[in-house]
Amino acid sequence: MCGIIGCIGRGGDTKETLLAGLKNLEYRGYDSAGIAFGGETVTVEKREGELENLRRQLETTEAFDGSLGIGHTRWSTHGPPSDRNSHPHMDEAGRVAVVHNGIIENYQALRDELRVEGVEFTSDTDSEVVPHLIARQLDAGKPPEEAFTAAVERLDGSYALAAVVEGEHAIFTARNDSPLVIGVDGDATFVASDVPAFLEYTRDVVYLENGEYAVLRPGNWTVFDGASPVEKVVKTVEWSPEQTGKSGYDHFMLKEIHEQPTALRQCLRGRVDEFGGRFSVDELDELERPDAVQFVACGTSYHAALYAAELLRDAGVPAQAYLASEYALGPAPITPDTLVVGVTQSGETADTLSALREASVRGARTLALTNVVGSTAARECDHALYIRAGPEIGVAATKTFSSQLVALNVLVERLTAATGVEQTRSLISALRELPEQVQQVLDDSKAADVVDEFGDGNAFFFIGRGLDFPVALEGALKFKEITYEHAEGFAAGELKHGPLALVTENTPVFAVVTGDDERAQKTIGNVKEVESRGAPVIAVTDGQSDVERYADAVLEIPRTTARTAAMLANVQLQLVAYHTAYELDRTIDKPRNLAKSVTVE
Ligand code: M6R
Repeated sequence: MCGIIGCIGRGGDTKETLLAGLKNLEYRGYDSAGIAFGGETVTVEKREGELENLRRQLETTEAFDGSLGIGHTRWSTHGPPSDRNSHPHMDEAGRVAVVHNGIIENYQALRDELRVEGVEFTSDTDSEVVPHLIARQLDAGKPPEEAFTAAVERLDGSYALAAVVEGEHAIFTARNDSPLVIGVDGDATFVASDVPAFLEYTRDVVYLENGEYAVLRPGNWTVFDGASPVEKVVKTVEWSPEQTGKSGYDHFMLKEIHEQPTALRQCLRGRVDEFGGRFSVDELDELERPDAVQFVACGTSYHAALYAAELLRDAGVPAQAYLASEYALGPAPITPDTLVVGVTQSGETADTLSALREASVRGARTLALTNVVGSTAARECDHALYIRAGPEIGVAATKTFSSQLVALNVLVERLTAATGVEQTRSLISALRELPEQVQQVLDDSKAADVVDEFGDGNAFFFIGRGLDFPVALEGALKFKEITYEHAEGFAAGELKHGPLALVTENTPVFAVVTGDDERAQKTIGNVKEVESRGAPVIAVTDGQSDVERYADAVLEIPRTTARTAAMLANVQLQLVAYHTAYELDRTIDKPRNLAKSVTVE
């Protein structure tokens, strides 16, 4: 996730303050970093890769005006990591520099408009339109503050923005759907995407709300909403600098679980044509409807692939999910109209890359569904679809799994051209409601109580059918990965073909039962089988069926569609795994023997 820091009033310490701020934002993950110094002149330095690259570059550079500046760590969403795509971005005359977090949805239209007016773009980013728009307004004679707000009014989408303008001892900022906070400390004022960026200087903060602008000048700051000033309350945060890399959470995993509502909104942003009742995804413009789809993936991503394959089969498209490590050496039959989709958060998993390469050699078209712009999978495949979850630091995949499921829904609808506008509309509305429902689960979950009561089992089983089956597998994987306890996921119907022999009063069974169709009823039959053998049953349910009657405890999710119910049930199971591991005092973010990115076969 990108990070922003800006400061004014730090005198000769401006450069070090900005670099320290960027360092404090490193935990968010980034692939390039940059700084703009403002004041009489505007000067920018930016570098791909580690912050150290930028620091080395700055050592060879004069300190410029030295009294104000803005800095940025970039996590690519539009255009691969590179010096030229790094922030800050400037206008052609070098009078304006801007840093941006978020996604500008109408950037293509704005780029086209500016190109017609003769602007030459120097990056692939959506963000670069902003300095050019501000420059246009300055050319039209507007003073900097008005030029900034007039430019921002042209933007659709999410943004946290900070800008400096030549000749102005000020930082201009604006926020919409992407966090921005001001820090105040006497004559020094800071602005950042996240409090940790400036916490070593001040704990007194002012949070900006959507639609608000702020102007920071030496010794003062003002916030306004459109044309009117807004009274803001200065709050004091209680965090210590040590806590803040995790934004106050004990672990990155928990923080990332809680970031899911934002990640899911981000994944859908700009990809829904509400009016037309369809999904519109620029990255997939060239993608033709395949005869068949094969998914290749590992671990959690394989569970996402199982979910997507079922959606495609339901829509009448032959589809199958394969473990990438098996596929690479024994691929399934392929025709030139087969699409092979590599589902991989990192885009660097060796098994998945091998499977995709094998598919490509055999003539299939390939698509990478990944979180990392410019990753090997994204570069090597014919197409790439980004899940936009932001960086995930915890080894256990959480928000990336949820974002994969949402992105796979978009892909499936795009490939099947929908079963009808009405169905697509109802899917759009279910996906739109999902972030709020995930928040509800996070707010109300009784997972910690369930762990208190049932967490000392000898082994833990997870069962489900249909779309709830990959969720059961994922629940078990998450559980074993971070608790080191024995956990297995099964298709509910398979229990009686072997695993039932393991079931005792010491093996809690988590049964995912959503909806109340034939599948749900059959799973309830399996619940009765384990219950009669004395196993404690924890139902994860939307309450549509009567599974609660046979359960010892219930983890509730809101009522929704089958596709989104599976995603909500998964959030409950993430929390079960987390709380169990917490109670057992495990190294949750770095489980033993495991790595975030598995680059060996
Ligand atoms: O980066 P990928 O999605 O390709 O990674 C695949 C697996 O290694 C990964 O999903 C792993 O299973 C998770 N860390 C489990 O939480």
